[in-house]
Amino acid sequence: MFPPSLIDKLAAAHRVVVLTGAGVSAESGIPTFRDAQTGIWSQYDPEQLATPQAFRQNPKLVWEWYAWRRELIDGAQPNPGHYALAEWPDLFPSFTLITQNVDGFHHLAGNKEVIELHGNLQRIKCVENGHVIPHWQELSGQPPACPHCGTLLRPDVVWFGETLPTRALITAVEASRTADVFFAVGTSALVQPAASLPVEAVERGALLVEINLQPTALTSWADFAFHAPSGTILPPLTRELASRRHPS
Ligand code: OAD
Repeated sequence: MFPPSLIDKLAAAHRVVVLTGAGVSAESGIPTFRDAQTGIWSQYDPEQLATPQAFRQNPKLVWEWYAWRRELIDGAQPNPGHYALAEWPDLFPSFTLITQNVDGFHHLAGNKEVIELHGNLQRIKCVENGHVIPHWQELSGQPPACPHCGTLLRPDVVWFGETLPTRALITAVEASRTADVFFAVGTSALVQPAASLPVEAVERGALLVEINLQPTALTSWADFAFHAPSGTILPPLTRELASRRHPS
């Protein structure tokens, strides 16, 4: 199923980096950002809701949108794509998993180290002082107030126009620049700075592999592109790599 030249490269690779996007969680039933949405939220553009301005103008609307996403995530499970990636730290001397997703599914599937570039939906923080609040009570669609400073609480995710967590970004860039093989999985590669990571990797000589339902802006950079669901591609690829690393 997989080209022998890819398997050979991976079997010899020292540093492997995977960047995931919303597509890797699509098979868990979590809608992506740019594919068509269904239901009440189809009338909203996520980019219009994921901004500090949107929260200032209509905190209830933004809070409800994230509460809806949190409910979806709470009612869903990692899928075979996530579970396959949980085995990758054992397959390569160095492995870095970077995600743009805020659903925490990579952790849930078993990846102990995940660079979460866009934060995590299961945490909230206050708008003024960044106090992170791990547990809170839902108040019928209203954002609660920070117990420390009284300002409104918001999801601890990165919104458009905000900077990414510095340490996470630096680590992601360093890993990408030194990767032998870089996988872009389920991302449209349209949102910066995450979209630059695969390009940084390729420019420094990495092999680029794309797994996506459809071609993206990255496809022309890719050495190998699999246009199929990640939950269909990653498990057999993982099995093949594991059998090469640990022949029975
Ligand atoms: P997008 O919604 O932009 O792209 C999802 C990609 O996944 C698309 O290219 C789909 O073709 C692909 N896809 C869908 N189902 C798939 C499957 N089963 N297997 C493989 N690929 C599949 O999501 P992201 O690229 O993650 O940022 O978006 C990046 C950022 O934009 C998000 O983190 C979020 C968003 O606005 C913030 O909120 C800051």
